[in-house]
Amino acid sequence: MKSRRQLLIATSSEGKRSELRQLLSALPISLFDLRDFPAVERIAETGNTFVENASLKALGYATQTGLLTVADDSGLEVDALGGAPGVRSARYAGEATSDSERIEALLVALSFVDESKRSARFVSAVVIADSNREILNVSVGRCEGRIALARLGTGGFGYDPVFIPSGYDLTFAELKPEIKNQISHRAIALSATREYLQNLTAASAAG
Ligand code: IMP
Repeated sequence: MKSRRQLLIATSSEGKRSELRQLLSALPISLFDLRDFPAVERIAETGNTFVENASLKALGYATQTGLLTVADDSGLEVDALGGAPGVRSARYAGEATSDSERIEALLVALSFVDESKRSARFVSAVVIADSNREILNVSVGRCEGRIALARLGTGGFGYDPVFIPSGYDLTFAELKPEIKNQISHRAIALSATREYLQNLTAASAAG
């Protein structure tokens, strides 16, 4: 009998990890995450784009662990701020700050920006790499919306309490996780990733 494929979900963000696990759960693949490899060295996000950073993380963790690896790099682009915080979303209020401090910094930066001019999008780049330092698949998802005037809701993670996706009047933190997992940037990027992994597992089962 062939052994099941193994896939490392390479993120140390608890929020991302649980969404990625949920979105990949239907595949016939055994899922691991970075808690299973406590000795791995953290990969610095030194790229200038989401795809560059996701590629650095997927390659870095695949080489260290020997596992097929999926990594996500994501962030929020706010039009009134010229696309900031963008790839710097995790460091928007400085290194080692909390989600709450980053949200505060964003609300302060937008305090004089009218409701009609607070358009924004979440972007997620998802990259799969293997331990031969090969990038196997790249997909990008976007979710358009706007930044709320104040934080609302307790679900999700990161900037969820201030992001209202287009077509809704509630923030990601107020919407049910099932809804976020249908419409989010990560869900959109992951649908292409899932298709790639499905073909890969079907090909190895046939071979
Ligand atoms: P990185 O991908 O590790 O560089 O971090 C991305 C930053 O964007 C972090 O501050 C996350 O909290 C935030 N972020 C990414 N995806 C989401 C999301 O789905 N909801 C809320 N915040 C997010």
